[in-house]
Amino acid sequence: MELKGVTEVSHSSKASQGTSQGAPQPPLPNTVRNITGKLPTAVTPAIRRLSIASLLGQGVLIVSGGVVRVTGSGLGCPTWPKCTAESLTNTPAMGIHGFIEFANRTLTFALAAVGLALLVMLWNLRKERKDLFWLAFGLLASIPAQAVIGGITVLTGLNPYVVSLHFLVSAALVVVSMLLVNRAYGRTGSTSPATAVRARPLVRQLSVVAAVASYLAVVLGTLVTGSGPHSGDSTSPRMELDGYLTTRIHVVPVYVLVATAVLLVILLWRSPRGDMLRNAAFLLVVSVLFQGFIGYWQYFTGIPVILVGVHMLGASLTLAVATNLIDVALRRGKDVVAAGS
Ligand code: HEM
Repeated sequence: MELKGVTEVSHSSKASQGTSQGAPQPPLPNTVRNITGKLPTAVTPAIRRLSIASLLGQGVLIVSGGVVRVTGSGLGCPTWPKCTAESLTNTPAMGIHGFIEFANRTLTFALAAVGLALLVMLWNLRKERKDLFWLAFGLLASIPAQAVIGGITVLTGLNPYVVSLHFLVSAALVVVSMLLVNRAYGRTGSTSPATAVRARPLVRQLSVVAAVASYLAVVLGTLVTGSGPHSGDSTSPRMELDGYLTTRIHVVPVYVLVATAVLLVILLWRSPRGDMLRNAAFLLVVSVLFQGFIGYWQYFTGIPVILVGVHMLGASLTLAVATNLIDVALRRGKDVVAAGS
């Protein structure tokens, strides 16, 4: 994905200069002032790298959740918030399932650390870059919520609807992280390039359709999983849904997505090489074709665990690139219809 650091050319130069302005602030204690004085007053490479770490981390968490499910480790730690009634962590006696489930729980702490670091680094920019600050705040605030939903998942014996919700919150966090990455790199939002050309209405509309179809495919995919064979534990309940029917419903938005993504590539074909929107549409076509191929492959081969893991990785990728597409397509810019995007 093309990620050019273009924050310096911005609609709002104030945003990249970065010092807090606006209503007078109550005085801070000296120690706090000393600390905040050392924090960045502009979007730094470290902030950009942390935003990427958050995006990758959310994707890894989705795949690691998939590993928990397909290896039957969902109740590897049989209780929550402790792993067992006696122990906070897994013990060697709990074997591989305990290890896999506890590793998945631990990953949440790593993501919380990234979210906290981002929020701290953005503290002095909380006024000028409200977009970055609140996206980072949302990421951090959702982590305890996600931990609690994970806990309810375990305490309900892996109720498939709760498992589905647990996955969908992670999916939403991939979307939030992608928006954060684009804004941290000055690709979209208040610091998008001043030279940006506004996409023509048809392209904007198709981008919205493509993004909505992607999100719908992901939501419906969880119903296929909930009625499928990989519940996370042999004792867990399943959704009382017809697997064949749910799969057919799951692929309806996929067809819409393939059609709109291909149409977008055709419409943007003549845009200059390196055009962000053209690249975004190409990325979406590639990821959707990959994901569709894996989807059919797993469907016709009895849903093998490896392909389920790859399909979950593909779902994270599709979510990220579809969000990138809609974000770039709807960003502000000059109306130059002849430019082709
Ligand atoms: C853009 C394309 C697609 C996306 C974004 C997508 C996304 C998803 C998601 C998010 C899940 C649920 C994962 C979970 O809850 O753990 C899922 C499950 C599934 N998808 Fe797709 N999917 C796509 C295309 C397809 C296609 C074309 C097929 C072909 C039949 C397919 C077949 C399946 C099957 C069989 C499952 C259940 C796997 C299991 O039991 O674990 N998918 N998909």
